[in-house]
Amino acid sequence: MRTILNAEKLVKTFRVGKVDVPALRGISLEVQEGEFLAIMGPSGCGKSTMLHLLGGLLTPTSGTITVDGEDLTAASDARRTDIRRRKIGFVFQRFNLFPTLTAEGNLRLAEKIHGNGADDPTRRREVLKMLRLEDKMHHKPLELSGGEQQRVALARAVVTRPAIVLADEPTGNLDSENSEIVLNMFQELNYRFNQTIVMITHNPEAAAMCRRIVQMRDGHIVEPALSVQM
Ligand SMILES: Nc1ncnc2c1ncn2[C@@H]1O[C@H](COP(=O)(O)OP(=O)(O)OP(=O)(O)O)[C@@H](O)[C@H]1O
Ligand SMILES: [Mg+2]
Repeated sequence: MRTILNAEKLVKTFRVGKVDVPALRGISLEVQEGEFLAIMGPSGCGKSTMLHLLGGLLTPTSGTITVDGEDLTAASDARRTDIRRRKIGFVFQRFNLFPTLTAEGNLRLAEKIHGNGADDPTRRREVLKMLRLEDKMHHKPLELSGGEQQRVALARAVVTRPAIVLADEPTGNLDSENSEIVLNMFQELNYRFNQTIVMITHNPEAAAMCRRIVQMRDGHIVEPALSVQM
């Protein structure tokens, strides 16, 4: 087993005017390669904040984060951005696709941003095909359904083969049919490519697909973290 992500004693306090808002109160989490992990917990308990820290979109007030052997917390802003681009694939609740680019164009953009400038049409087609989007690759986001847009967002997150995919309520904006399709895709990516995935979800059916569920409350991970036997 190889540790892909290790977070230790993460604290995040937001300052709003003169008030400190504690979002994370000391969270430690280790994720192994190939894990598919769900994060659950009530609204406002700090799930998104944690995911943004783990992905280098925010810096912690204190604590350390290592992603695939690289220390995010010791890195400069530029270095952290570089690590994020090389190691992490994000999937957001709102799909955040580039509206003027086609499905394939969105993947190409991700490759460009990735840093090594890879331009791999074969890989793009393979990923789009796996997500059953091969006949939609030349469509722009507005020419796709919500479920298809989320599948493109997922394709974009994995096309660069990131060490870890971080997904913040990826089915939050989808109906049950599309949610099921997208979740099956996550499961298939995890199963076929041993893709490491951390997914925030409110949906118990989605969490049931994961091998481990981490419950959060009020800026803490609730111990013991529940394990699901598959
Ligand atoms: N940029 C910010 N500035 C100030 N406070 C923030 C900021 N982002 C989050 N918070 C606060 O931190 C706490 C945790 O927010 P967070 O978004 O992580 O919750 P969440 O668990 O993802 O909730 P939800 O399920 O509703 O998405 C909340 O009290 C929130 O108001
Ligand atoms: Mg959230």
